[in-house]
Formats: sequence, structure tokens, C-alpha cells
Amino acid sequence: MAPTSAGGWASPDITSNKEMGAGWMSPDDMVEYLKIGATHGTVASGPMAEAIEHSFQYLDEKDLRAIATYVLSLPPSDLKKDPGFKFSKDKEAEEYHNYEVNCSACHGVEGEGIKGMVPAIAGNNRITTRYYTNLIHAMLMGTRAAHTQTLQTAAGMPSFAWKMDDQQIADMLTYIRNAFGNQGSRVKVDDVAKMRKELGARQKVTNVKD
Ligand code: HEC
Repeated sequence: MAPTSAGGWASPDITSNKEMGAGWMSPDDMVEYLKIGATHGTVASGPMAEAIEHSFQYLDEKDLRAIATYVLSLPPSDLKKDPGFKFSKDKEAEEYHNYEVNCSACHGVEGEGIKGMVPAIAGNNRITTRYYTNLIHAMLMGTRAAHTQTLQTAAGMPSFAWKMDDQQIADMLTYIRNAFGNQGSRVKVDDVAKMRKELGARQKVTNVKD
């Protein structure tokens, strides 16, 4: 579990750690993120999207820059990439197929995402973090990006709770954490089961009458 959490969402590392924190962003990137809810391959979700929607987007440029400069001056944490996980060739091909069918229309065939709308999978340290509960949250409940004056689409991530069981979600997430040049630990099926219960997400539909 991440050190802190808000409303079932884990708060990410926003220190100047380049590999696993916010250090890959320039102050300009962070100002843009706080103003419109997205920058490069990152899109705000959950309580962060709410904070941007209801508050940060209305701050003036000078105040946003002061926040960004302060946050990016914080000393880097010591959070590092975890060792990766490798599926067998067959399983990897099966998961790529699942990704292509279910995810690629939005997240891109090479995990590149859509700028300002859908987060990238490739090279995104939110995807590879060892505090991966937000990924399970997104898969089970879906999530919506901030609706701001600049970005009005507020793209949505659909819930896959009805379509995938705990093992399928764990495997899909493990796959994206290690695809497209990423490197991340395996997502445990027990963590998915626990969160499905805690969040009250529905079970996979196994029969049209369910
Ligand atoms: C209809 C478009 C769409 C589809 C299909 C889709 N996603 Fe998403 N996904 C999004 C959007 C948009 C967001 C960002 C939502 C937000 O900011 O709240 C997102 C967010 C996520 C996140 C959270 C990323 C983060 O930075 O915390 C994960 C993980 C994710 N998607 C994985 C998947 C996987 C795996 C699939 C396929 C099984 C999939 N998505 C299918 C649009 C989609």
C-alpha cells in the first residue's frame, strides 16, 4: 500500500525523483498539469482530478508556478523501479491480444496514449509504481479525467469489473507494467480480490442472466 491514500486512491510520489516521482516534469509541465489536468502522457484521476477541476485550474499562472517550483525543489525520494516480471512467450502473446482488443483504441497500440486525454502506458511511472492500487481501482471502477476550461472532454476509463475476473485483471496489469519498455513487479491476484470487495465492484458477468 502507498504511504497515504485519499478516498481509496493512493497519493503518488511527487518529489523530484526522476525515475519514480514527479522529477521527469519541468515546472512548465507541472503548471500545465495543474491548470488543465494533463501534461504529456499523464492525466489526473480520482481526487487529484477533483482538486484540479474545483480549485487549481482557477489559480493564476504566478501561483501555479510557485507551487510547481516548490514541489520540484523537494529532495528526491529513494523509491526505485522494482525488478520486472516476465510471462512465458505464449502468455505474453495472449495478454497482448487482450490489450489490443480491450485497451489499444484508447491507450494506443504501442501504449502511447492520447495527449491531453488518455494516459500513456509506455514510460509512465504511475503504471510501474510498486504502489499499484490505483491501477486496480481504475480497472474495477473506471475513472474520469478532470473537466477543465481548457480540456472539456474529461475522457473516461470504463470499468472492466464485469468483464474480467481477479486473475484476468492482475495479469492484464502485470502485462502493461512490463510491456512497451516498462518494468514493474507482478500484481497480486489477492490485492485485486480484496479491492473488489472493499470498493463494492461487481463480479465478472459469466452468464447473460447475471
Ligand atoms: C474508452 C477509452 C479507454 C479504454 C478502452 C481503456 N482505457 Fe484506461 N484510461 C482511459 C482514460 C481516459 C484514463 C484516465 C482517466 C482519468 O484520468 O481519470 C485511463 C486510465 C487508466 C489507468 C490509470 C492510469 C494512471 O495513470 O493511474 C490504467 C491502469 C488503465 N487506464 C488501464 C487500462 C487497461 C489495462 C485497459 C484495457 C483493459 C484500458 N485502460 C482501457 C481510457 C481508456
